[in-house]
Amino acid sequence: MRTYFKANFLFLKEILTHPRAIGAAFPSSKYLARAMVAHIPKLGTGYVVELGPGTGAITKQILRSGIDSKRLIVVEISPRLVKHLKEKFPDVNIVEGNAENLDTLLGDKIANVDCIVSSLPLKSLPKSTVKNIISKIDKVLSIGGVYIQFTYGVFFQKKVLSSKMQHIFSKIVWWNFPPAAVNVAKKILF
Ligand SMILES: C[S@@+](CC[C@H](N)C(=O)[O-])C[C@H]1O[C@@H](n2cnc3c(N)ncnc32)[C@H](O)[C@@H]1O
Repeated sequence: MRTYFKANFLFLKEILTHPRAIGAAFPSSKYLARAMVAHIPKLGTGYVVELGPGTGAITKQILRSGIDSKRLIVVEISPRLVKHLKEKFPDVNIVEGNAENLDTLLGDKIANVDCIVSSLPLKSLPKSTVKNIISKIDKVLSIGGVYIQFTYGVFFQKKVLSSKMQHIFSKIVWWNFPPAAVNVAKKILF
């Protein structure tokens, strides 16, 4: 219970200081987290990279779904949230950094990325930032790899995806505030 309030308090602090980077009023619900995690390839050996984990609601479900903590790499830009995540998930590789630099942040792990799970607020980040992030996702994801993204509002702008990605799934999660759309794409071309 204490962790729950701490996470919400931290989230509130971040909204007040970095509203565009947070782009949400509340942490993700467990229903949204489960809907995201359902699309992670569970049997692979490659890395699962989570972008913008915030307070860790989705990180927690990723681990609960059976993904080994050694397979998980989490990238968060806020130093305050990174500190919180490191306390909450001591076994997970938590990287403080900007997803725009995803390739350099991953180093040699770049060669083996099976899945990207993103809570990045694509609708509130500047367009140029979104463009950079999408091109890095394109670059690091293996062929056949899966990109899972939620956005608030029920419409996902498929046009953010490049021609290297094929949109394969869409679902609205109503049990989240506000309701969110989960979208999944597969990398089909180098
Ligand atoms: C919608 S919130 C995440 C909500 C999260 N699922 C939760 O339940 O707490 C978006 C997160 O993306 C992070 N973020 C925003 N821009 C980023 C960037 N360029 N690189 C990495 N993280 C970023 C924010 O700091 C924030 O933690």
